[in-house]
Amino acid sequence: MAEQIKMPQYPEPYWRDSVSLPTFPKLDESIDADVGIVGGGIVGITAAYLLSKQNLKVVLIDAGVILNGTTGHTTAKITAQHGLIYNELIEHFGKNKASLYYKACMEAKQLIEETITEHDISCDFKKEDAYVFTNAKSYLQQLETEKKAYDQLDIPGELTNTIPLTLPIKSALIMKDQAQFHPLKYLKVLVEQAVKNGAEIYENTTAVDVEYTKHPAIITRDEHRIKCRYVIEASHYPFYDGQGFYPTRMYPERSYIIAVKTPKQFPGGMYINAESPTRSVRGATVNGEDLWLIVGENHKTGQGKSTMDHYKALQDYAETHFGISEFVYRWSAQDLTTLDKVPYIGPVTGAQQSVFVATGFRKWGMTNGTIAAKVISDQIMQKDSAYADLYTPSRFQADPAIREFTTANADVAKHLIKGKLEFTNDNIKDLSPDDATITRVNGLRTGVYKDKDNKLYAVDTTCKHMGCEVHWNSGDRTWDCPCHGSRYTYTGEVVEGPAKEPLNKVEL
Ligand code: FES
Repeated sequence: MAEQIKMPQYPEPYWRDSVSLPTFPKLDESIDADVGIVGGGIVGITAAYLLSKQNLKVVLIDAGVILNGTTGHTTAKITAQHGLIYNELIEHFGKNKASLYYKACMEAKQLIEETITEHDISCDFKKEDAYVFTNAKSYLQQLETEKKAYDQLDIPGELTNTIPLTLPIKSALIMKDQAQFHPLKYLKVLVEQAVKNGAEIYENTTAVDVEYTKHPAIITRDEHRIKCRYVIEASHYPFYDGQGFYPTRMYPERSYIIAVKTPKQFPGGMYINAESPTRSVRGATVNGEDLWLIVGENHKTGQGKSTMDHYKALQDYAETHFGISEFVYRWSAQDLTTLDKVPYIGPVTGAQQSVFVATGFRKWGMTNGTIAAKVISDQIMQKDSAYADLYTPSRFQADPAIREFTTANADVAKHLIKGKLEFTNDNIKDLSPDDATITRVNGLRTGVYKDKDNKLYAVDTTCKHMGCEVHWNSGDRTWDCPCHGSRYTYTGEVVEGPAKEPLNKVEL
């Protein structure tokens, strides 16, 4: 058997590796703004761009560096085809709201296109058709039902049994005229434009709370305050909950992406299958050469098999269907899904109308993130938004999602207890370099990582959000929480909230 091509040792998204981004200082004083934005991903940066254009004073902070969260790890499809969703939306919300969901996505696409034209942005934007395909007989009916939903909503689409990609399929549903781009080349220009319009950006500045009085103030970990008229939580997981109970209304999932070269030319199109495990494919061009992005293997954060196995499964898939001549990148992403699959975009609670959240994009962050920035900017500018009701985080839909609500929370309760009882006998001395284990140190459940130079890093595995026990993610070398998706580096620093504080270090 031919030896398999080696995958890159460390995760690194192609997007970040192919663009150089500006850097910004840390906030070292208290300041005033019209709008304070927390989070430098597609929502925060697009909102900073739109609002600064309206002459509002915008301050954006990021706990790390900008464009290094989910936006920096996306597949960057600009499409309204979010898997098989429209029949489900019609059933849960009715035809009008399902139609609004489609229109919102298409408006996001249009906004991106107009912005590219306005600033002449060179960001590899390319029109592509989007395909949901299946090779499972049991999904044929679902594709047909989805096509009927397209017809009801006047979405241009058709069923086919051939696609340009050399994959075995039984049927596929096409949505014409969608698009893809290089998200960081695009957002870099929006950052520059926002700064030109007077927006201030601060990196390595962590928001820990919002003080909600007449005017909200963002409180940073260094105890500085950004006093503003409006706050936008664009931090993926809302760092400030305002008693909106977000941890019980969303669940985090991880997915994996590999970027490979193959002996074949990429035929165009953007693809996702309907069945599990998810497989999604798109192309990108790097220095005139095709890069194939293969995505999938979704699972709840902190649960499931070894993370390297997920990359391996994608590699096997790519090898089988396309052949791999070079394995260039691998990376993973984390996404949040709401109970009814529609994002939460709007005031954090009914009573706190000046603090906005934008979250729960279910892996479709380019369109959902762009429309979120637009809807919130319109609300701040006191303009009517056709989509405000659809996305309002205060909605409650009595639908099958409630079952998921119960399951999601039962899952959290299970992990809260299970993690505490787990005991491992792993001896740290037997630990291989670049590996981690869970052990007990003075009775305390402790996660120990040994780096390539045999240096040990030990952390208390109790998540700082609500006390679940974190699990080792060998693919990204992070400690991940199965309950609400907080993630920490092996030294314990927060990579991803809702946790705001680092894990406690343990002396060995
Ligand atoms: Fe909520 Fe860890 S993320 S307990």
